[in-house]
Amino acid sequence: MTERAPVLTIDGPSGSGKGTIATLVARELGWHLLDSGALYRLVALGAGRHNIDLADADSLAEYAASLDVCFELPPGTAEVVTRLEGLPVGDAIRSETCGNAASKVAALGAVRQALLQRQRDFRRTPGLVADGRDMGTVVFPDAELKIFLTASVAERAQRRYKQLIQKGISANLPDLLTEIAERDARDTQRTVSPLKPADDAVVLDTSELSIEETRNRVINLYRDRFAPSRQ
Ligand code: C5P
Repeated sequence: MTERAPVLTIDGPSGSGKGTIATLVARELGWHLLDSGALYRLVALGAGRHNIDLADADSLAEYAASLDVCFELPPGTAEVVTRLEGLPVGDAIRSETCGNAASKVAALGAVRQALLQRQRDFRRTPGLVADGRDMGTVVFPDAELKIFLTASVAERAQRRYKQLIQKGISANLPDLLTEIAERDARDTQRTVSPLKPADDAVVLDTSELSIEETRNRVINLYRDRFAPSRQ
């Protein structure tokens, strides 16, 4: 009998730190990582490249179902290399334009359905850390531990601003505030898989926490609850 790999889900709105925390926690536990937002961003990016209209749900779903993507973590490096149709995408999927297009694509039920099994296929031993919006509610409802990270809109816009500037991508704080608020509204109000904590999720507000503190809280929650019985 194959052992079912454990899953730790980290959901939350844009800029709550879930991507950073998920990467650190996956590394600490030696587990696989699923950045589900990247899949929606890649569908949006690829759709642009193939001239697929963002309102054409059928064509987008067809494209999502056959999305040719791979994520690599070359030894000794900190950054995941994402390839779309064989070529590295670099920072093209990290722009706000791509994030906004991703959130439109992600509101389509047919696209979500097309990506569902693909996300579940990331569940492999020794375990998976999955970050996104609906990891704990829809994709892995039976996850061992579900975390929901939040932070104020102002704090999240500030973090995103710093992140973009560090990457050499130009950014404007007031625009980011508006865009994050708009994306929150779209993500929480959509009818399919809206952004919300699972009933059994632990909600952590990171507005006043450093990355290190947040990472430690998540690791401790995991160890307190589950690791003793596994050792
Ligand atoms: O997390 P990230 O900002 O990369 O996600 C981009 C967009 O993809 C989000 O704004 C959201 O609309 C969508 N998304 C989603 N479900 C997920 C992950 C991301 O709807 N599990």
